Amino acid sequence: MLTSEQISPDKLHSDYAASFTLTLGRVIKIEQEAGQVIFTCDNGKLAVSKARAGAVRIRLFADAAPDEEINMKTTPAIVEGESGAGAAETELLVADIGLAYLVETDEITIEVVKEDGSLRFKDSSGRIWARNPMMAWNEKKSAIALFRATENVHYYGLGEKTGFLDKRGERYEMWNSDNFSPHVPEIEALYQSIPFLIVNEPECSYGIFLDNPGKSVFDMRTSSEAFTVQADTTGLDYYVIPGPQLKDVVMRYTALTGRIQLPPQWSIGYHQSRYSYMDQDEVMEMARTFREKEIPCDVIHLDIHYMNEYRVFTFDPARFPDPKAMIEELKTMGIRIVPIVDPGVKLDPDYRVYQEGTDSDLFCLKPDGSPFVGPVWPGPSVFPDFSDAKAREWWGDLHRFFTDMGIEGIWNDMNEPSVFNENKTIDPDTLHRYDGNPATHAEIHNLYGMLMSKATAEGMTRNLNGRRPFVLSRAGYAGIQRYAAVWTGDNRSFWEHMALAMPMVLNLGLSGVSFSGPDIGGFGHHTTGELLARWTQMGALFPFCRNHSMLETVRQEPWSFGPEVENICREYISLRYSLMPLLYSLFRESAETGMPIIRPLLLEYPEDPNVANLCDQFLLGDQILAAPVYRPDTFHRVVYLPEGNWFDYKTGEKREGGRHFMAHAPLDTLPLYVKEGAIIPRTAPALSAEFERPSELFLDIYTPENGEGAFDLYDDDGATFAYKDKAYNLYRLRVEGTEGTVKFTVHPEWTGYGEGWKRWTLTFKHLPFAGYLQDFGKEAADRDELETLAEGWHFDSAARELTVVLNQPLEDVELVVKARA
Ligand code: GLC
Repeated sequence: MLTSEQISPDKLHSDYAASFTLTLGRVIKIEQEAGQVIFTCDNGKLAVSKARAGAVRIRLFADAAPDEEINMKTTPAIVEGESGAGAAETELLVADIGLAYLVETDEITIEVVKEDGSLRFKDSSGRIWARNPMMAWNEKKSAIALFRATENVHYYGLGEKTGFLDKRGERYEMWNSDNFSPHVPEIEALYQSIPFLIVNEPECSYGIFLDNPGKSVFDMRTSSEAFTVQADTTGLDYYVIPGPQLKDVVMRYTALTGRIQLPPQWSIGYHQSRYSYMDQDEVMEMARTFREKEIPCDVIHLDIHYMNEYRVFTFDPARFPDPKAMIEELKTMGIRIVPIVDPGVKLDPDYRVYQEGTDSDLFCLKPDGSPFVGPVWPGPSVFPDFSDAKAREWWGDLHRFFTDMGIEGIWNDMNEPSVFNENKTIDPDTLHRYDGNPATHAEIHNLYGMLMSKATAEGMTRNLNGRRPFVLSRAGYAGIQRYAAVWTGDNRSFWEHMALAMPMVLNLGLSGVSFSGPDIGGFGHHTTGELLARWTQMGALFPFCRNHSMLETVRQEPWSFGPEVENICREYISLRYSLMPLLYSLFRESAETGMPIIRPLLLEYPEDPNVANLCDQFLLGDQILAAPVYRPDTFHRVVYLPEGNWFDYKTGEKREGGRHFMAHAPLDTLPLYVKEGAIIPRTAPALSAEFERPSELFLDIYTPENGEGAFDLYDDDGATFAYKDKAYNLYRLRVEGTEGTVKFTVHPEWTGYGEGWKRWTLTFKHLPFAGYLQDFGKEAADRDELETLAEGWHFDSAARELTVVLNQPLEDVELVVKARA
């Protein structure tokens, strides 16, 4: 515990008083190579190159001599490929305009001032995106770049950070840290480091991605007219990512650093975890209780106690005498096991994994050639060098141990890596092979966790015979989304941490990491029934949905607090399962475009000043708005609905947007609203996402009175990579309302998956008029009759709902609803 001694006058000093006095000086020579221009200056070099998706890359080589060769190799954050960073084939156009050079790329023109190498980034109309008037460094080779900002700027992104959505006035460090103290606003670094800042200026949005996996700092605090990015080692290597819209920035950034892989559908289901379910009997009991109580669940996690004295790739023979049989039995119940795997390998000469890694020289080494040894759960441990392809392959192959038992998902923890020593991680001078470009741990610390998850995901894929693996990771760097889902580490059962999860997960989504979520109910400390109920309501709509809690905290499975809380948990977890077609379509959209699955309102309503820092509401896709209650004993809250009309999901009440109002939210109610024009696909709730796939689809159409709506509905087998060979269905759904007529169309964009839904029930909700279906089937007299009809429709005048049944796979369909004369 800290006391006031910490702030005694002689202890106060600023680490950042270090001045950056060294600068590039004048440009003395320019050289052009394919896709890049190199400016040699008095005191170093500056490379300007074209990158993927309209971005430009700026690389500073501080102190480089004029004849020094420069290395333009990128980090593993950048997606490899032909149009990857620095790999552009075409020459860039360079013009000398007197005081500066102009370098033209597809989207951005870069102005390099001859006097001092300062930079401006413009588009073809002359609009200035970003201004970087200062780049400097010091003797320790720590380098800084300053960018101008206006007083109306807002900042987003930066991955997993505490604080609010808008990062104005904040300062953060990028250094993957296992921080078990409560996550509060002044914590500058957590487990993930995504050095990607979105700068939202009134004129346009752009992104700055600082591709430096060592320690870096983003400072939006020191000046209100500028922000700085600073890297401790290896200099500056940054990308300017153009907008003009926020969505463009996210799309382009995820083209550069990659997008999520479509996960197996079971991993989008509900996960139950605890540190730890201690033995096989307890796990089976857990599974049986879920099924008895009819609470949907797809996954039970095994925390560290399943291992034999915390040796990775082992099971404790006494606690888990027959894991294979357990896994088989669980599968018949529709439940999968996801075991934890940490990077620390117990230093034990009699242990196979330690022996193999030592014999093949796959662990991280100190400068004297001895392995780095540090304590973690198993005691003194060694650490695989995941920056080495050979070590990654070996590690990946070790996962056969799990896949042979029928395991398809792995939970990577402690991979910052966390070490119980003074540095809290691997010593900074430890050497990494880094695929042929040796680097110290200080230089590439933030890559460790991501490369572990890459090794895991690739190894699992090799061993799963065409089935998709699931990997969950605590640590990560830009690009982690390509390999793993992310949870936000050791939060606490505090209401404040429930509230914090919203901006944190929303900014992770804007930073490319769209498959993420917190420990529902809170990890440390003791939850209450009320907190669990509220957190489950919110978490049920988050991309990653896992309840997890720590040793010796009160139990927090959904039934731990009596029937009221249990019913609420069941209701909202079931809601998640009934919305699976919607969720899965959003995962596919994210895999294709990088769009987050849950979104801050500002992504969809960038012009609305009310949402620039709205942290306690979010959108699921662009159709459903959630406004969770995150305070105890609170049954009302203010909700802001953006422009347009909205319908209360539970009561159907219509509300006009563009205003705030007071929502009533008793404990069993999560305020949820659906946009007019929305098309919500759902099924009956299943208990298991993979093993019970409903054949009937419901489409709830929130009929627009005068307007339109659209949704891309996606489906495939949810389990294999067959979708990559076109075994999927994609339907473009569209609804259009004009006075007295509503038109709904289905256009099958692709139908390559034969096992799709067999029966479709469409409901035009909130019809603005008494309607009938033109030219279609037979009219049912009542709803019951409709259920038995092969095809038919029914108008419920009280609810103003018109229901239509289609008993066939969907083909091109056009339905027109007319007002009765
Ligand atoms: C770390 C993880 C936590 C896990 C625990 C034991 O604290 O963040 O989720 O339960 O280690 O493995």
